[in-house]
Amino acid sequence: MSNFESHVQEYLGSQRPCLISDAMKYAMEGGKRFRPRVIFALLKGMGIDESKGYDAALALELIQTYSLIHDDLPAMDNDDFRRGKPSLHKAFREDIAILTGDQLLTNAFRVIAESDSYDAKCKVNIIKALSTYAGSDGMIYGQLLDVTSDNQNIDAEKLDVIQDNKTGGLFKIACLIPMYIAGREEEDCFIRMGSLIGKIFQNQDDLFDVIKSEKEMGKSLSDARNEKGSALSVYSLDELKQLIEDQFNELDALLNDIDIDKTYISELLQALKNR
Ligand code: IPE
Ligand code: IPE
Ligand code: MG
Ligand code: MG
Ligand code: MG
Repeated sequence: MSNFESHVQEYLGSQRPCLISDAMKYAMEGGKRFRPRVIFALLKGMGIDESKGYDAALALELIQTYSLIHDDLPAMDNDDFRRGKPSLHKAFREDIAILTGDQLLTNAFRVIAESDSYDAKCKVNIIKALSTYAGSDGMIYGQLLDVTSDNQNIDAEKLDVIQDNKTGGLFKIACLIPMYIAGREEEDCFIRMGSLIGKIFQNQDDLFDVIKSEKEMGKSLSDARNEKGSALSVYSLDELKQLIEDQFNELDALLNDIDIDKTYISELLQALKNR
């Protein structure tokens, strides 16, 4: 188990024992922890030990997990499999899944407030990033556009806005956190980086919806069945692959403009390219 994973387990073990703490453990298990890995790669690129990012990465991963629990609910994507096993509302109950999502979100802010790793200014910056880009200027706004779109009423421009918010939101947080920890102020660059990683990640996810199996992905692949607006409502398979390649190149160019040791983030992006 990685050191970060031990940190996550220690946190989950510290929760008041009840049905929701059991549900939190169940739901947190099996995630790829890709957003935490972005945080650690950028921290290392700025000469800071990754452990400095553990509490912020935990908070972000709590929010990521909540977003997936609610995304899978019958009223949303209605998906029965997640992270290689039955979705939380299937394994527990729908009411417990709603409450567990609420608790994961709320607890994220408590993790930052109680952390010994950050000073007061850094805590406020992290809380601001979490509340901005997981909320009305990020993930929730993107999910709103997503649930009100179908494969008929979507075009390239709208798709870009959906992805920038629904997936880019949490990746913007993952890029801003190390910048705040390092005490740097290039918000625009790090937000653009998060947006691009998010778009690439979601474009790949939409692509995998049709070219990979549920077993490989460890989750239900329902967007086509639900006639959801996705990247493949707008692009052909070949066009989408080309777009992803172009976005990786754009990201490379952006990274060249930022003063960090790019070794770690480049390695992670290579792993993303090969997934
Ligand atoms: C799933 O994210 C939601 C999308 C943005 C496509 P991940 O693919 O990172 O899911 P986990 O956290 O590894 O389960
Ligand atoms: C991303 O969209 C979900 C969130 C932002 C929570 P999807 O609906 O495509 O994610 P998956 O495919 O269910 O993981
Ligand atoms: Mg969805
Ligand atoms: Mg979904
Ligand atoms: Mg998907």
